[in-house]
Amino acid sequence: MTEIGKVGIVGLGAMGAGIAQLSVEAGVETVGREVTAELGEQARDRIGHFLTRKVEKGVLEAAARDAAMSRLTLTTELEELGGCDLVIEAIVEELEPKRDLFAELDRIVSPEAVLATNTSALSVTEIAAATSRPERVVGMHFFNPAPLMPLVEIVRAELTEDEPFDAAFAFGERIGKTPIRCFDTPGFVVNRVLIPLLNDCIRVLDESRVSPEDLDKGLKHGAGWPMGPCALVDLVGIDVHVHASEALYEKTREQRMAPPARLVAMRNAGLLGRKSGRGFYRYDD
Ligand code: CAA
Repeated sequence: MTEIGKVGIVGLGAMGAGIAQLSVEAGVETVGREVTAELGEQARDRIGHFLTRKVEKGVLEAAARDAAMSRLTLTTELEELGGCDLVIEAIVEELEPKRDLFAELDRIVSPEAVLATNTSALSVTEIAAATSRPERVVGMHFFNPAPLMPLVEIVRAELTEDEPFDAAFAFGERIGKTPIRCFDTPGFVVNRVLIPLLNDCIRVLDESRVSPEDLDKGLKHGAGWPMGPCALVDLVGIDVHVHASEALYEKTREQRMAPPARLVAMRNAGLLGRKSGRGFYRYDD
């Protein structure tokens, strides 16, 4: 099976930075690529912040944090991912930019390397088709926040072969996640269930005239959710959730997949949740 000595992460937003954090903590040399040096530095600061919090809480040695941080190299040049055995893509959730990136990665990294996408609602098979090695392309779908959520879905596209699939699964375990095997069907496993469920929750806001606070209390205290649906959509990002809903609706034509009007209006108004400082709730930090 492919030995994963060095990992590349393309796109260091909330998801990519979280995946990079897991990788360096697990002792893996990691190259993170962002489009500007400034965005790269922001991701490094974010990772450093969360690792320092672990040190402050006594769950990580300061020396282990420093060693983890020293395993992270930043670049703006895709060519610098040339020596990676696994590249995980976490860029904008749109098909064409992802296909363009995979076509470039295909040219840059060794033919034996595994290429993975963190897409949540696009087709891994369509992304893989942009390369000359679709058999070595998989989905590795992490959940937000990646360092805290145990699951990673390992997605087998139409042409994925066993060996790269198993290598991605083993890497998921190596970075401390609980991987599951699934196929390239719309929403894979969890989003196939979670997206329409969250959409139902948002529609209930209007139907039952309950407040977001009370709806969240309802699902937390009546169904044992760790956080309520409005807080969760704020965490995921209202734009991200609407986009995923639209993508799944387009594929399944199931009415429950379509984004609720309230969320579309919030997205259009720039209320994106935590990242914009305001969604269902306001955020000061
Ligand atoms: N990255 C790294 N570390 C983080 C972090 C992040 N984004 N957010 C928090 N942490 C660290 C912090 O250091 C934090 O400690 P401090 O606040 O003291 O600094 C520490 O983790 C613990 O954080 P919390 O106290 O907030 O942890 P918690 O016990 O309250 O759990 C939670 C937080 C794991 C998010 C929990 O509320 C939960 O499980 N929520 C549900 C999340 C969920 O369902 N996610 C899936 C979204 S759907 C999705 O992602 C799919 C998709 O494709 C869109």
